[in-house]
Amino acid sequence: MKRGLFISVEGTDGSGKTTQIELMEKYLRTKGYDIVLTREPGGTNIGERIRSILLDTSSAEMTYTAEMLLYAAARAQLVSQVIKPSLKAGKIVICDRFIDSSYAYQGFGRGLDMEEIAQVNRSAIDGIMPDITFFFDISPGDALARRMASAEADRIEKEKLDFHMRVYSGYKKLALLYPERIKPIDSNRSIEEVHKEVCGYLDQITQGGAF
Ligand code: TYD
Repeated sequence: MKRGLFISVEGTDGSGKTTQIELMEKYLRTKGYDIVLTREPGGTNIGERIRSILLDTSSAEMTYTAEMLLYAAARAQLVSQVIKPSLKAGKIVICDRFIDSSYAYQGFGRGLDMEEIAQVNRSAIDGIMPDITFFFDISPGDALARRMASAEADRIEKEKLDFHMRVYSGYKKLALLYPERIKPIDSNRSIEEVHKEVCGYLDQITQGGAF
């Protein structure tokens, strides 16, 4: 079966992911690849509705387990409706966050049991894992200072800094656990420098016309 390429992008809030995703998309498009850009939570009608429940500041009473299950539900919908069919059609899927966000935020951040998260997500991802994951590595102290000041910060962004530090060190642990898949990218550099490093990995993974 012809199969595309699945790229996920991770990092703490305000790590510069969005800018890098746009550059990544442009780079791959100029090389002639068919790109599907999507995000979590969201990317489908149902997922976007779940997203608004999750990020709404009025959802303060949400339990950690309910939160974990809602992220997984949005993921299940996205995998089935968007990711699987796109990969089957030989496209490159770039997903702004995927399962590692649940390990980092709900696992390391909230302290939920990792095995429980893995189990719930096994049915959500239905056998689909990213071929490569970029972790945009920047300390939340630096990254969040800008956004916390913003009146528009969402429910998760308004969490205390120590939560974001747990998430951040969680990502670092995940990167050490899965070095073949998760590539930490030092994001405390200029946009161009960061993009250049990303392109190096993109060239590696697309070379040889494997898909
Ligand atoms: P978003 O505004 O997309 O943030 P960002 O631009 O930083 O990606 O909001 C997504 C939020 O949801 C973000 O704070 C991370 C959180 N999240 C989880 O806690 N668990 C998950 O499984 C996912 C996908 C996201």
